[in-house]
Amino acid sequence: MEKLTVVMTGGTSGFGAVTAKELISTSETRVFLGYRDKQVAGAEHIPLDLSSLDNVRAFVSGIVEKLGQGKIQVLICNAGMNCPDINSRTVDGFETTFAVNHLAHFYLLKLLLPHLDTNAGIIMTTSGTHDPDENALSAPPKHANAIWLAHPEKDKTLDNKMIINAQRAYSSSKLCTILTIRFLAASNEANHKKWQCISYDPGPTPGTGLLQKGTFFMRLAWQVFTIPFLRKRILPKSNSIRDAGVTLAGLALGKVEVPEGKVYAALRAGELTFPSPSKLAQNEALMKELWKDSELLLNNALIKLA
Ligand SMILES: NC(=O)c1ccc[n+]([C@@H]2O[C@H](COP(=O)([O-])OP(=O)(O)OC[C@H]3O[C@@H](n4cnc5c(N)ncnc54)[C@H](OP(=O)(O)O)[C@@H]3O)[C@@H](O)[C@H]2O)c1
Repeated sequence: MEKLTVVMTGGTSGFGAVTAKELISTSETRVFLGYRDKQVAGAEHIPLDLSSLDNVRAFVSGIVEKLGQGKIQVLICNAGMNCPDINSRTVDGFETTFAVNHLAHFYLLKLLLPHLDTNAGIIMTTSGTHDPDENALSAPPKHANAIWLAHPEKDKTLDNKMIINAQRAYSSSKLCTILTIRFLAASNEANHKKWQCISYDPGPTPGTGLLQKGTFFMRLAWQVFTIPFLRKRILPKSNSIRDAGVTLAGLALGKVEVPEGKVYAALRAGELTFPSPSKLAQNEALMKELWKDSELLLNNALIKLA
């Protein structure tokens, strides 16, 4: 029997490492992980730093070389980070949270599309922070304008408080994830090849490395909330790292029945739900504009790299 080939970013720590281990423990899989320094036993590792487009290209070349004539059955874009401000820039000159969470994955996705099998699953990790109705602890997005997000100095909606801008950079990047998945799901190619496109929102999942660049008190609270009693009481919709990781693995292996037409899956208090994403995430014009602007940003950056 042919093994299921899985390519995953963000499988080296946090709940993604739980997912990777679950996938590896299934004998029918061959798992490729993008990695910086941490590795997961049983996976095949290829270096990946999403803060560099050149690095993304090298990662994809490495995957393609290892695949030979083979195809990818599951692509999981789970890596993500959260800068404490909007001042840092990647080597390509883009705001880092947006560049790592959205633009690098957009590039990776575009490069890997020709290598995806018929019936492939494409899962990109988003966040409930994209939706103002979730009343998350983080400021929701004002827009999904890729040019403003890549170059915040052009953004006319910036707040006076840096912490709010940083939170918006994160929540906006996760809004971009849903819009990207929606665009892909609606494409002729996805329909023709019967791809299953899902944006996965793990819900608040304390204890991961996501807030490692946050203040001391944020990091402390993030650890304290791993105590199940406190987590369930103070963050009732939250999940354990194990539940978030195992659920993502279940989606990847097709163990979860996704209702027809749904592209947003949200884990809430251990239960996978399929709500509608935010109003901005459902906006068709925004979806098309984001794809076009992301291509424009990429093309300009790639010309400089050539
Ligand atoms: N935890 C939550 O409450 C929560 C809620 C909603 C959504 N999410 C999303 O869930 C995903 C996983 O987050 P997590 O909470 O498990 O956080 P985490 O523990 O910090 O894991 C993040 C993963 O992304 C990788 N990564 C980060 N920056 C990277 C870069 N520049 N290049 C390559 N890989 C990079 C990390 O690699 P290393 O192992 O090398 O560090 C790690 O594997 C993220 O997309 C996050 O935004 C998390």
